[in-house]
Amino acid sequence: QRVAIFVSGGGSNMRALVEDMTGDHAARPVVIVSNNENSGGIAWAKGQGIATEVVDHRPYGEDRAAFEHALDAALAKHAPDIICLAGFMRVLTAGFVSPWQGRMLNIHPSLLPKYRGLHTHRRAIEAGDTSHGCTVHLVTPELDDGPVLGQATVPILPDDTPDALAARVLEQEHRLYPAVLRRFASGNTNRLDL
Ligand code: GRF
Repeated sequence: QRVAIFVSGGGSNMRALVEDMTGDHAARPVVIVSNNENSGGIAWAKGQGIATEVVDHRPYGEDRAAFEHALDAALAKHAPDIICLAGFMRVLTAGFVSPWQGRMLNIHPSLLPKYRGLHTHRRAIEAGDTSHGCTVHLVTPELDDGPVLGQATVPILPDDTPDALAARVLEQEHRLYPAVLRRFASGNTNRLDL
């Protein structure tokens, strides 16, 4: 299975996925895609000799369809079978998502369906929750909404700050996403709870 990984920032989830795709893994990374030329993930991938594609969203302004056509063109060269969104911070429309539905995964830093969208750690703390975590799900046109492939749970500690909680969740993201992709690439979509 040929995997494209989309990143916007540091790419720590992308690194965890790439480092796990060795040995008898049914998938391998064929391209790292970003909307941000300064993404640390792109720099790291280049250092690993993995193909990269940067499609800056800014020249397209509000024309999401045009940005997504450029994404499709960049992807086509690499013929991926699976897309993994990993800290990719652009909302993708149904026009891009629908052809990939069932073959596009995302990791979101909350226990979906709780806390779709942004600032999930602060929201969980402010709600007085005692546990939180991350979810890997299949991507559908609805934001942060598709079928759950796996979750990992962490405690929210007294006096937790959003940053401390985010770091605790991120550690679990780096365990959960590779474990889910390994199963998904070999055809196993049974939900994984860590
Ligand atoms: C993190 O907040 C993570 O929870 C979410 O995307 C952000 C950046 O992740 N998935 P990464 O280090 O770029 O993978």
